[in-house]
Amino acid sequence: MSNANDIILSVSVIEIATHGPAQTRALGARLGKLIQPGDVVCLAGELAAGKTTLAIGIGAGWGALEIVNSPTFVLVNEYSRPGGDRLYHVDAYRLRDAVDAETIALPDLLNDPQAALLVEWPERVLPLLPSERLWIALCWMGDETRQVRVEAAGERYEQILRSMGDT
Ligand SMILES: Nc1ncnc2c1ncn2[C@@H]1O[C@H](COP(=O)(O)OP(=O)(O)OP(=O)(O)O)[C@@H](O)[C@H]1O
Ligand SMILES: [Mg+2]
Repeated sequence: MSNANDIILSVSVIEIATHGPAQTRALGARLGKLIQPGDVVCLAGELAAGKTTLAIGIGAGWGALEIVNSPTFVLVNEYSRPGGDRLYHVDAYRLRDAVDAETIALPDLLNDPQAALLVEWPERVLPLLPSERLWIALCWMGDETRQVRVEAAGERYEQILRSMGDT
């Protein structure tokens, strides 16, 4: 039951400007610490917007032991950490559409109960992605400056955003 002293926090969007790739990696690392199996993080933005830079930071914060190219799928990198969790990093740039995405077994990656998923160029595979997700849009503002807009869809992702604000 709510009472008059309750503070209701609903954080669904944050926007941060980064100045240089190191700041984008650091932001990614803050987020990566919070990522758990089942989470889906979309990384949108034009060429050189900083999607891969952010993904590398996320992997580092998540605790990736090593970055290995998937033995089966060239567009998928697979990160692992102690305990057996996995983090898949998919670059959908070369996929034309969701049908193509099935050729990299995106549905299997999404269904892996021990894995989280990062997707660059998520627009390419939108019909396959869950409606609850973190959607990060990176925007080129200048040689070293990027606008990073992080939007949460769903309670789990709002919780991640709240936690990011606390760190
Ligand atoms: N603030 C910044 N954040 C991220 N990258 C930056 C920043 N400032 C400069 N850069 C540079 O911008 C480039 C970003 O490249 P990156 O590969 O991360 O982009 P991308 O969005 O993954 O591109 P692609 O669509 O080609 O995969 C790098 O060369 C990086 O050093
Ligand atoms: Mg990239």
